[in-house]
Amino acid sequence: MSIRELIEKALEMRGFSYVPYSNFAVGAALLTKSGKVYTGCNIENAAYGATICAERTAIFKAVSEGETELDAIVIVGAPKGEMPSQECPPCGTCRQVMSEFAKKDFRVILAVDPETYHIYSMEEMLPHSFSL
Ligand code: THU
Repeated sequence: MSIRELIEKALEMRGFSYVPYSNFAVGAALLTKSGKVYTGCNIENAAYGATICAERTAIFKAVSEGETELDAIVIVGAPKGEMPSQECPPCGTCRQVMSEFAKKDFRVILAVDPETYHIYSMEEMLPHSFSL
């Protein structure tokens, strides 16, 4: 699975975002070390704190199926109905969840379109992270 294909999947996932409160649609595509892809979108709730972000949806789907060895995740976001025009950096909670499973070589790919993206390390995303 190429980075381009992962970005296309993440962009597609924005179509499933349930975002009546923020109107901001985020999509994610997670590649595991075994080569499987788990996708996610953000799902909001009237009790705002019950909202789950796209990247956590994808990671929890993978982990709940026994896949904890993660290779890379693509994240894309923009107001619903618009194509992304800038990167969508993950929130602090998602950074902490990623760091739980990320090894040194895990890549966080923030994309604008299939040709426009940057690759970040977990260390760049969440330096001095908490772990037990
Ligand atoms: N959101 C994500 O899905 N991922 C992030 O890392 C940033 C925020 C979602 C949550 C909420 O549905 C909307 O974007 C606005 O905060």
